[in-house]
Amino acid sequence: MKIMMVSSEAVPFAKTGGLADAVSALAGNLSLLGHDVKIVIPRYYKIDRKKLTALEGPMGVPVGTGQEWTEVYKTPLPGFPKVEVYFIDHEACFGRDGVYGTKFDPDFADNTYRFSLLCHGAFQICNKIQWYPDIVHAHDWSAGLAPVLLKHVCRSQPQFAHTASVYTIHNIGYQGVYGKDKFPDLGIDWGLFYGAGFERNGAINHLQAGISSADMVTTVSPTYAYEIQTAEGGFGMDGLLRVRSDVVRGIINGVDISTWNPKTDKELPVNYSTSNIKGKAACKKALQEAFGLEVDPDIPLIGMVGRLVSQKGIAEVFAPSYGSIYNICRDMKVQFAIIGTGEKWCEDEINNLQAKLPNLRAKIGYSEQLSHLVEAGSDFFLMPSQYEPCGLNQMYSELYGTLPIVRRTGGLADTVQNYNQKTGEGTGFMFDALTPGAIYDTVGWAVWAYYNRKDHIKKMQKRGMEQDFTWKASCEKYVEVYKEALARGCGI
Ligand code: ADP
Ligand code: GLC
Repeated sequence: MKIMMVSSEAVPFAKTGGLADAVSALAGNLSLLGHDVKIVIPRYYKIDRKKLTALEGPMGVPVGTGQEWTEVYKTPLPGFPKVEVYFIDHEACFGRDGVYGTKFDPDFADNTYRFSLLCHGAFQICNKIQWYPDIVHAHDWSAGLAPVLLKHVCRSQPQFAHTASVYTIHNIGYQGVYGKDKFPDLGIDWGLFYGAGFERNGAINHLQAGISSADMVTTVSPTYAYEIQTAEGGFGMDGLLRVRSDVVRGIINGVDISTWNPKTDKELPVNYSTSNIKGKAACKKALQEAFGLEVDPDIPLIGMVGRLVSQKGIAEVFAPSYGSIYNICRDMKVQFAIIGTGEKWCEDEINNLQAKLPNLRAKIGYSEQLSHLVEAGSDFFLMPSQYEPCGLNQMYSELYGTLPIVRRTGGLADTVQNYNQKTGEGTGFMFDALTPGAIYDTVGWAVWAYYNRKDHIKKMQKRGMEQDFTWKASCEKYVEVYKEALARGCGI
């Protein structure tokens, strides 16, 4: 099949979160199954044109009430040479720092215009290179216009008459909501404000239009596919998703084991595997040294890596006088190694905690390299997400013999099996209520097992390291969804 991914992020070119990992890995692994896959993303300021190949001539893209002239670049996806990544280059829209915004301006005022340029541009690239996909696979709110364009504009053109669309929700908390006055930015008829499902509470909602218009809708875990159809997890989209529930599927993301494998990971001081786990102790020592924690192999070390935003349960962990982490560090013989960036109050509070607690050390910032060391050197990994569409770090943890401590939600519920104290079964520790008390108790439970049930801990580590989180099985499920999209959308 010919598949065009439309996304605002793709590693290694632009990443703010797991979306970027998922899009590139999915594209790459589909190509390994023999599919012809291309990715279209913006050429952001940080992506060096000199490392890309320019396509000849400018490309006109209808957007807003007129047309923009863009340049198009391409390059093979690193690690997957059969996948071509196409970049839409437009100085005024993308020649600035930030994907959606910056720290000071988190949501650029012209985002409707910028991402409309991306979506219209993707279809223009097909015309330019005379390559017409079977599937347009759009990701998250920023590509929500792509299924709309296919259904309401392009499918009436012969070259797109046999193309179907799949829309993947990586995070329903971000919907691309903008004032109705921005609708002309989208470069489509006003009739589609209602007709394509953009209108919500009088405003534009990109995600809602994508869900309404796509032939198939997927999200990144089976449990999250269920949760987004409930009032609690749907962020207002649950009604629409229930109406469309026959086309909604949940497919778990895989892990890119070329970068996340303790046997071969180049970021680690010593590699290890189930048959030779000794190297993990060396990683723990390196982690304790790198973070300035007391070097002691026998103190349970708990890692955390991620965006410090409310979705991740940061309030229940870090909120001053309310979060659980201060009491955990005070009452239990444990250590914490944390890397993250995000909400300022949380970054500040983590720094306050570091000053008070010798057994808590953090790096405020983004470090790919240290994130590998935290995964490898920790005994446990804490991820108390309020909601988690899929989540990658809990899977990395298991593969690295680090036991996840997670809230039973979304992809966490699908990828971690709770510890059974009687039999020693399980791959991690789970709780249900997102409260500081539940986090305190569950960390306490893990620490208790660490000191008192060493045999169980070892078995759980091994079981985690043996999990199959590769992309192959997920890609096969996507191919089924693509076939269903073609059947529903084009009668093929
Ligand atoms: P989300 O997409 O919601 O942020 P995921 O778990 O799917 O959550 O993906 C997050 C990805 O970003 C992981 O690969 C994680 O290691 C990485 N990451 C997040 N914050 C940091 C950080 N501060 N330093 C290094 N890697 C990070
Ligand atoms: C989102 C979700 C995360 C998921 C990622 C990739 O950012 O928050 O849970 O793993 O997308 O699909």
